[in-house]
Amino acid sequence: MKTLITGATGQLGTLVVTHLLNHLPASDIAVSVRTPGKATDLAAKGIDVRHGDFDDLGLMTAAFKDVETALIISAEADNATRIAQHRTAVDAAKAAGVKHLVYTSIIDPRADADFTYSAIHLDTENYIKESGLKYTLLRNSFYADLLLAGVPHALETGDFGAPAGDAKITYITRNDLAEAAAMVLANPQTHVNATYDLTGGKAVTHSEIARYIADTTGKPVKFADLPAEVHVGILGSFGLPDHLVEALAGLYVGAKKGDYATVSNDFQTVVGRAPQSVQEFMTGALK
Ligand SMILES: NC(=O)c1ccc[n+]([C@@H]2O[C@H](COP(=O)([O-])OP(=O)(O)OC[C@H]3O[C@@H](n4cnc5c(N)ncnc54)[C@H](OP(=O)(O)O)[C@@H]3O)[C@@H](O)[C@H]2O)c1
Repeated sequence: MKTLITGATGQLGTLVVTHLLNHLPASDIAVSVRTPGKATDLAAKGIDVRHGDFDDLGLMTAAFKDVETALIISAEADNATRIAQHRTAVDAAKAAGVKHLVYTSIIDPRADADFTYSAIHLDTENYIKESGLKYTLLRNSFYADLLLAGVPHALETGDFGAPAGDAKITYITRNDLAEAAAMVLANPQTHVNATYDLTGGKAVTHSEIARYIADTTGKPVKFADLPAEVHVGILGSFGLPDHLVEALAGLYVGAKKGDYATVSNDFQTVVGRAPQSVQEFMTGALK
């Protein structure tokens, strides 16, 4: 029986596979990907590459064959589509005889959260619990990696912009979240029906993040508190879909209410070390 990771050609999934190879032989690992041709590097390592898509129950059920534990990495679509996709993935896992599902959720999943994608994760968490399968819910906080997107503009203009005000957010790196997922997949029996809040070790403001950028680059970067409508206009100008613009705008509305400011010790519990700080991450990425 194998351990399978969906979305293994995505950014988080790629890192989960890398970390899991430190715990399991490649022959015990399978991946489900939408485009097997993008996973030839994984196949070359001896990983069982399977074709899967959350839009296709039959394909997904075949992808989960002979799998004991599976990580479902949440997909990317509007709420109604993604809720249906995740339910299909859970149905497929159950039909194929998977014993334990691990899922990448979000901190504090709620139906009424300003971060609109939160409702997807609440639905998927509940659907997994109702499936009767063993589960582990990884409630990931927001990726520190996303902060790098604003750096080129900040270096050019001096303004690190976001509609964040004094909001504190427990950003954590994608790599740390991947390592936590791999630790769970390597020893699922010690994480049965557990829910982990995977946050950074400190909630940081965007003023602090601007200072990290300034200190590392030596450029006079400061935080610029963008009006919400300006932020939405900028996101729209990048051609992002409306549902993503709405979710990103809502993230900051919720963060200003304190939704993502609570630090948890769960990362330390799962991985056995503290998460990398946002300051260390930014310094390393910008040097
Ligand atoms: N916590 C955060 O801050 C944060 C930020 C952004 C996103 N997320 C969530 O975390 C997930 C993983 O993050 P990431 O950085 O790895 O994103 P990513 O690089 O965009 O990867 C998303 C993965 O989802 C897969 N996927 C999309 N639709 C699918 C479908 N219908 N069936 C099966 N797989 C599907 C993609 O497959 P392909 O490789 O075939 O495209 C890809 O591998 C995202 O999808 C999103 O739900 C969290």
